[in-house]
Amino acid sequence: MASIIPNNSELFFEENDLIISKTCLKGNIRYANRAFMAISGFSEQELRGKPHNIIRHPDMPKGVFRLMWKTLQQGEEFFGFVKNLCTDGSFYWVFANITQDVDSNGTVQGYYSVRRKPLPKVIHNVIEPLYQRMLDVEAQYQGPEALERSVQLISHWLEQEGVDYNQAMITLYQHGQIKGSSTNQQKDTIHGQRA
Ligand SMILES: Cc1cc2nc3c(=O)[nH]c(=O)nc-3n(C[C@H](O)[C@H](O)[C@H](O)COP(=O)(O)O)c2cc1C
Repeated sequence: MASIIPNNSELFFEENDLIISKTCLKGNIRYANRAFMAISGFSEQELRGKPHNIIRHPDMPKGVFRLMWKTLQQGEEFFGFVKNLCTDGSFYWVFANITQDVDSNGTVQGYYSVRRKPLPKVIHNVIEPLYQRMLDVEAQYQGPEALERSVQLISHWLEQEGVDYNQAMITLYQHGQIKGSSTNQQKDTIHGQRA
């Protein structure tokens, strides 16, 4: 498929919709449900066997996927907010939960990602400012150092909040805020680090 030119058109899905995909151990797509194809615009044929970054949006920091793989390879589940690209250049935000796909012998065959609709205020007030800072760092440094520094930004933010990564993501998804602080205070915290 020819490379997609992103635009500013945002697509939304219903609160009860689940966007699901299944991958091999390397992250190549084995299965995508109807909701996935409906919103992304990709057909089953276009998706099957392709690396999952076929829907990678340029606004997504590489550091998020670095953290995702590190977490999965440690045998843990991963939660994260992800901006995905559609075939027509539009985008949609999801809250993804990725878990191991284990067969009846207990062997890990790949991964499952189940995506739900995130709260727009979390994306605007917390995630977009954080990801922008990660992208800035990734543009400033080269190679592995860029990725390390990008992931470090998440760690520093979490240290200030006093929560671990998954806990922070789940709380943001469920309550729109971490602990007692509002998302606006989150925004201040993230911007505050920039100052
Ligand atoms: C279950 C699962 C779901 C994934 N979902 C996405 C996704 O929605 N968007 C994306 O860009 N990458 C996603 N990835 C990551 C890519 O598969 C993987 O990072 C990529 O193919 C490797 O390229 P990279 O080195 O650019 O990360 C997912 C991986 C797994 C295992």
